[in-house]
Amino acid sequence: MGKIELTQVSKSFDDTEVIPPLDLKIEDGEFVVFVGPSGCGKSTLLRLIAGLEDVTTGQVLIDGQDATDIPPAKRGLAMVFQSYALYPHMSVRKNIAFPLRMARLDKSEQDRRVSEAAKVLNLTDYLDRRPGQLSGGQRQRVAIGRAIVREPAAFLFDEPLSNLDAALRVGMRLEISELHKRLATTMIYVTHDQVEAMTMADKIVVLQAGVIEQVGSPMELYRTPRNTFVAGFIGSPRMNLLNGPNATKHDAHTIGIRPEHIAISTRAGDWPGVVGVSEHLGSDTFFHVKCDDFPEPLTVRADGDLDLRYGAKVFLTPDTAHLHRFDQKGLRLK
Ligand SMILES: Nc1ncnc2c1ncn2[C@@H]1O[C@H](COP(=O)(O)OP(=O)(O)O)[C@@H](O)[C@H]1O
Ligand SMILES: [Mg+2]
Repeated sequence: MGKIELTQVSKSFDDTEVIPPLDLKIEDGEFVVFVGPSGCGKSTLLRLIAGLEDVTTGQVLIDGQDATDIPPAKRGLAMVFQSYALYPHMSVRKNIAFPLRMARLDKSEQDRRVSEAAKVLNLTDYLDRRPGQLSGGQRQRVAIGRAIVREPAAFLFDEPLSNLDAALRVGMRLEISELHKRLATTMIYVTHDQVEAMTMADKIVVLQAGVIEQVGSPMELYRTPRNTFVAGFIGSPRMNLLNGPNATKHDAHTIGIRPEHIAISTRAGDWPGVVGVSEHLGSDTFFHVKCDDFPEPLTVRADGDLDLRYGAKVFLTPDTAHLHRFDQKGLRLK
């Protein structure tokens, strides 16, 4: 079981409140991602759940039990960090078994858990190697293995992939998702990368300055962002947010339209403009278009085959079914 509930949890360091009181429920077996810009309090929130930091106010419940005063080692949670913190002189086997040796678990039970974790993580052939003889991805898997053998109620990941190169990051992302499907254990995963959040989460918690801006499934956040912060943070390339007469026309202070919801034409359309820089990804091309109506260029996603040169005259037409409207405070309308 791995149900986690925070009620009115807050955290101050000296006089500085970095997390005002918040409530959050995480269901057993869920993959929850905390995402937000650097310094918004993601790690602090995770450390409060792990017990590595004391809450200033509020309660942490694990499976209905008040865990607020329970020390980290007794909470039944396993944390995986960005730095693998493996012991270089120990074999992979010994590294994975380390928490079990510390807990003085029966040797045969240690062996059983280590070989099971190794199988899940494709490390069986590497058990006698040292960490220095492994790739970055394999080392990360050893660190995860060390968490798995503890058979925790929940796994807590703090930006575990930030040290890996881009290709490896995508591979590990899939591996962790696959692991979650197989273990069906609660996972809380911290990242500043909204793509990781979108691709991995059952439930995303968007944080800004210690405040939860929105909680929802990836598609809920994509389709109905509650405010302009979430609208701009979730989705890549980011949503175009526009003010002025065009927003007023839609009874809004700000309108938002995603790059994939704007049609681009050389013949006719709502907003005349001029093509600036374009980014070719092969399958898609992102055009940055300076329109007469807006001070900032708009980003438009088009088919990779569309060939428009720098300076070309175009017309943009937003798909009004996908128009987002926000009030003066940046809150979603309707
Ligand atoms: N031990 C600490 N003492 C004082 N301030 C801290 C401490 N840990 C974190 N902070 C502050 O709390 C805020 C949130 O930090 P953190 O949770 O690490 O953010 P994130 O993980 O989202 O980048 C930051 O302003 C950071 O400087
Ligand atoms: Mg952090």
